[in-house]
Amino acid sequence: MTERIFNFSAGPAIMPLPVLEEAGAHMLALPGVGMSVMEISHRSKTFDEIIQGAEAGLRKLLGIPEGYAVLFLQGGASLQFAMVPMNFLPLDASADYIVTGSWGKKAVKEAQKFGHVDLAANLADGGFTRVPGQDELHLNPSAAYVHITSNETIEGVEFKSEPEVGEVPLVCDSSSNILSRPILIEKYGLIYAGAQKNMGPSGVTLVIIREDLLPRIREGLAGMLDYRTHVKDKSLHNTPNTWGIYIINLVCKWLKEKGERRQGEFALRRDRRDGLLSRPRRSGFALSHERDVSPAFRRLGKEIRRRSDGRRHGRLERPSLGRRHSRVDL
Ligand SMILES: Cc1ncc(COP(=O)(O)O)c(C=O)c1O
Repeated sequence: MTERIFNFSAGPAIMPLPVLEEAGAHMLALPGVGMSVMEISHRSKTFDEIIQGAEAGLRKLLGIPEGYAVLFLQGGASLQFAMVPMNFLPLDASADYIVTGSWGKKAVKEAQKFGHVDLAANLADGGFTRVPGQDELHLNPSAAYVHITSNETIEGVEFKSEPEVGEVPLVCDSSSNILSRPILIEKYGLIYAGAQKNMGPSGVTLVIIREDLLPRIREGLAGMLDYRTHVKDKSLHNTPNTWGIYIINLVCKWLKEKGERRQGEFALRRDRRDGLLSRPRRSGFALSHERDVSPAFRRLGKEIRRRSDGRRHGRLERPSLGRRHSRVDL
């Protein structure tokens, strides 16, 4: 294939070419195994090495310390919108949500089905263009947890640093900026992210959970919806997405091989950006947000405008930025 299309949509995104090449080369049979990764048992030694490799890779790149479990679940970040309150929102308590965009709004709607939710901040009025300052937060020190969306994919609003939430566990939907920059995992009680933007294909959801929170989980949940099940069975309670975890392992290896330091820094995002910029096709998307648009997004907008001088090198999927300026009321 001589021409590849670079997808900059909000869903699954471009993968590193060396990862696709390696996966392609070993599609029919893993070296020394004689079977595709999709054909081997998820309880085999080979798959054990793969899932352990993926976990070790993420632990290294993200600096995930002891005391945190790393889970590879299914159901996307959308299931986490429900699993978090199911597990951690007792009926006699409330949870604080800081809403900075469309995905945070969805998380609230889902949590409201399971318990009481307070909006510690809701930036809908300003059209979701920034994160709140610490002094704008109405935090309840007895909340079960505080939920944020570290990067609102649709609005492009990103937290540059974590809000101070005291002793209350901070829960973060990190679907669209995980592995894009270093984060201090210790600041979080739980981080979740669909794999499909920065880590691998869709169908795997990464959950990083502080193990001392496990005793707080409500009793009586269905096994598959209880984080303790997956911690205990090391993500192998049922058949996991073996292919997805295999690709995550390759992506981690690729990131490490690129020589990027501990937290992967901007490697994956930069690679996407560079690929995108060397092949501009469409031009002229503009960002009006001043403060909290993620730096990568701002640079990308500028670069595309600068380079879109009529050259047509390749193909680029239309960025799904149509709703970027829309105002959404909660
Ligand atoms: C920030 C954020 N949260 C949640 C989701 C939903 O993810 P999933 O499709 O994995 O359920 C997305 C998807 O784009 C997202 O960007």
